[in-house]
This record gives sequence, structure tokens and C-alpha cells, in this order.
Amino acid sequence: MTTTPKTPRSRLDPDPVPRRDWLGLASLWTTGAALLFGLAGMLKLPKAAVLASPSKKFRVALPETLPAGEPFLPPGRAVAIFKDAEGAYAISTICTHLGCVVKPHAEGFECPCHGSRFAASGEVAKGPAPRPLPWLKVSLSGGVVTVDEGTEVPHGTKVAS
Ligand code: FES
Repeated sequence: MTTTPKTPRSRLDPDPVPRRDWLGLASLWTTGAALLFGLAGMLKLPKAAVLASPSKKFRVALPETLPAGEPFLPPGRAVAIFKDAEGAYAISTICTHLGCVVKPHAEGFECPCHGSRFAASGEVAKGPAPRPLPWLKVSLSGGVVTVDEGTEVPHGTKVAS
């Protein structure tokens, strides 16, 4: 029995890669790609995923000419600050329905999102808001009011200077 000798192939026509070798190479490339993606993910992790938010406490000087019962709305804050003969107080302007910022209205506040209305004291005058607007902790020193948006106080809590 005679066998035909293998003819050497040229560089332009290389021997085909056997299936086992091809699968080994494919698994090697897949492992390398997975390691690269994992490394890229690890490099991205140290970045903060949460943005810093402004402090819940802030100080604001009330205008000297603020009429009693008129809200003062500090820019960038969801708070209405009032001053009357009994003292100063602050009411959150975040609607208790779904969190929209309420706007001053002739008789109190009105929510632009679903039409809830609140009395000037924050009590619900018309739904769908389920609860009154919360009153917030304030302290008064001179004409400067410090409001703590993170601390609720009982309705009617006013601070005299
Ligand atoms: S968010 Fe104010 S009424 Fe719905």
C-alpha cells in the first residue's frame, strides 16, 4: 500500500486550522475580551454615581418691606417664608400629591400639575393632595432667617426674633 506524499503548501495557501485549534483560539479571544471589558468597568467604578445636593439648611435675609402674610420665595429653594406680628415661619412648597412645586395663589398656593390648592397656612383646600404642606423649622436672628428644609415642625410653629 502506497501513500501519496503530502505536498508542501505555500505561504499563500496555508494549512487549514484544525477545528480544535480554532475553538481554542476563539475561547482565548473571548476570555481576553471579557477581561478587557471587566477592566474597563473597574476603571469606571470609582466615579461617584450620586451628585452632591445643596445643604438642606440655608440662611436668607427677609426684605424689610415684606408685608405680613405675604410669602417670600427664596430663589432656588422650594420654601415660602412668612413674617407676621407673631414671628417668622416657613412652609414647604413641594406638593404632597406627587412633588410638584406649588405657586403662590390669591388664597394660598396652587399646584400647577394636578390643580391642588392649599390655604396660606398650607392646609389642603382642594385635592388631590392628601396632606397639608409641611411647616419647616426656622430660626430668626435679626432679619436673617435660617430654614431647615429637612426638619418638619407642627403647623402653626412660629419663631419670634
Ligand atoms: S403634584 Fe400637586 S396636585 Fe399633583
